[in-house]
Amino acid sequence: MARHRVLAFCGSLRAESSNMGLLRMAERLAPPQLSIEVADWAAGLPLYNPDFEGDVPQVGQRWRAAVVAADALILGMPEYNHGPSAHGKNAIDWVSRPYGSHELRGKTIAILSSGERGGGRHMQAWLGPILSSLGNTVIEDPSVTIINGADRITVHGATNDPEIEELVAAKMRNLFERLQRPG
Ligand SMILES: Cc1cc2nc3c(=O)[nH]c(=O)nc-3n(C[C@H](O)[C@H](O)[C@H](O)COP(=O)(O)O)c2cc1C
Repeated sequence: MARHRVLAFCGSLRAESSNMGLLRMAERLAPPQLSIEVADWAAGLPLYNPDFEGDVPQVGQRWRAAVVAADALILGMPEYNHGPSAHGKNAIDWVSRPYGSHELRGKTIAILSSGERGGGRHMQAWLGPILSSLGNTVIEDPSVTIINGADRITVHGATNDPEIEELVAAKMRNLFERLQRPG
């Protein structure tokens, strides 16, 4: 059966990030046909500036190349003031330019989020349509929006709540199934 290249990005820069933990959990629970790279090095992306286009910094080049090479993305994205974190949105902006030949299109994308009271549902309601408008397919089900996730998930992806693991595993199964479908 075909293997699929999946790039995982974390929108939190916090050392003990629970959203990074969700990515590690996804790596552990995903079907073996998903070959997942957690792009922890993307924490070094500078704020996007169109002036870079003449001489793109190395980490920007690496991020763009990694997105091009991937069949799918997993975004571990915290909710900041009902939207994605600045770092997460910045990473998306990086691969949305140059307009018309941008890297972030035709990808299948799963968003996982760990927030506080909202769990990230407000952020996902914004981010899903943004990614769709760039030409990507967002896996909607099941919604992975973990309330008070920082208290429940370690940065290494451990949790003592089996429901969180089941949600993440189901999201990865649905991502895999979508990648198996033609078109
Ligand atoms: C600036 C800021 C704004 C936040 N706004 C929200 C919010 O609107 N909704 C929410 O559920 N959590 C909010 N939070 C909480 C974070 O989503 C929460 O701390 C999350 O677990 C951080 O992810 P991490 O463990 O990966 O760092 C906010 C945190 C910060 C720092």
